[in-house]
Amino acid sequence: MKLADKLNTIEESATLALNTQAKKMAAEGKKIYNFTAGEPSTDTPDYIKESVAGKLDQNHYTPVGGMPELREAIAKHCREFYSADWIKQENVAVVAGGKPGLYFSLLSILNSEDEVILPSPAWVSYKYLIELAGGKVIEAKLADNFDLDISEIEAKITDKTKVIIINSPNNPTGSVYSSSSLQKLADKLNQTDITVLADDMYTKLVYAESFKPITSFGFNNLVISSGFSKSQALTGWRIGYVIAEKDMIKAIVKLQSHLLGNTSNLSQYAALGGLARGDEPPMYDDLKENLRIVNNALSQTPKIKFTPPGGAFYVFFDIREITSDSMAWCEKLLDEKGVALVPGEAFFAPGFVRLSFTTDKTTLEEGLRKIKEFVEEGAVSSS
Ligand SMILES: Cc1ncc(COP(=O)(O)O)c(C=O)c1O
Repeated sequence: MKLADKLNTIEESATLALNTQAKKMAAEGKKIYNFTAGEPSTDTPDYIKESVAGKLDQNHYTPVGGMPELREAIAKHCREFYSADWIKQENVAVVAGGKPGLYFSLLSILNSEDEVILPSPAWVSYKYLIELAGGKVIEAKLADNFDLDISEIEAKITDKTKVIIINSPNNPTGSVYSSSSLQKLADKLNQTDITVLADDMYTKLVYAESFKPITSFGFNNLVISSGFSKSQALTGWRIGYVIAEKDMIKAIVKLQSHLLGNTSNLSQYAALGGLARGDEPPMYDDLKENLRIVNNALSQTPKIKFTPPGGAFYVFFDIREITSDSMAWCEKLLDEKGVALVPGEAFFAPGFVRLSFTTDKTTLEEGLRKIKEFVEEGAVSSS
């Protein structure tokens, strides 16, 4: 069968390839330190499971934009979190996770060949979500400390620029963009019609005290995509939401009515259960402790440079003093030490590596020791 041309540019994620190899090795009985996960290692909390138990008889379609009680609960939560009185039920669309939220938002805004500025390194799916929605990706490199580089962004703006993606805390870098750079961006963008699409998936996992919500900067055109996958360990349940002005929400609901229908009603009850606890991440303290372990270990590992993460559960470290081929380095690290990381190539940043610190403390400490050993043994010749 001849498949559509648009599939030719979509590559399978490099994250998956190493993850599959790591799982295969673990199944063969090898001790594996798997730091590739893009999700909390903890199970969905019991208070959420309990909020869904007893709902199995609720098995009809819900309204396309979400159950009114959930839309209301999300609106209330976001009004408080974002200190934004304008967020009402009509400004909320419930969607089946962060990915559909981003995709429906892009589909609602982009015409063919419109440009989307993507600060990078960037999470792998943005590129494909933008292209599948008909847009064109324009990369804008982040600064060396992974903050926004405003002059680089300004240089990339053209009369075709429609959207810029802002993801803070960031996957893969773990960075929280500085308030000064976000304010400069707002001042610049407010002279244009460009929309900020804020991917707020990690805003409940923030360690940097300097963090301010995206609504603090007064962007004229703002769409927020968020969800419960990371904050409530609900990755498999597929539930998220978009916050935007009323017309944008209507557009998303219109698209969703044909593309998806409604988000699973059981997952909507799960989200209500999470919101009843204020969407506070139950694994937050453990992640904060893991971050301390990571910062400590990496600062004692020769030749590795890194900026301590301000949020999410990733550290993105620089191995360019060792090699520019992070893919080969990761393959060898897995083979020799049983440590699985994601090579920077997956995020448009060769020479870097992403470590996800969601595992238990012992696995994390041992794995970091293995990485140090590997670097000290100089096991990889530079390519
Ligand atoms: C930055 C970012 N946005 C969105 C998502 C997608 O979240 P979901 O699993 O809810 O679709 C992820 C998941 O890895 C992510 O890292």
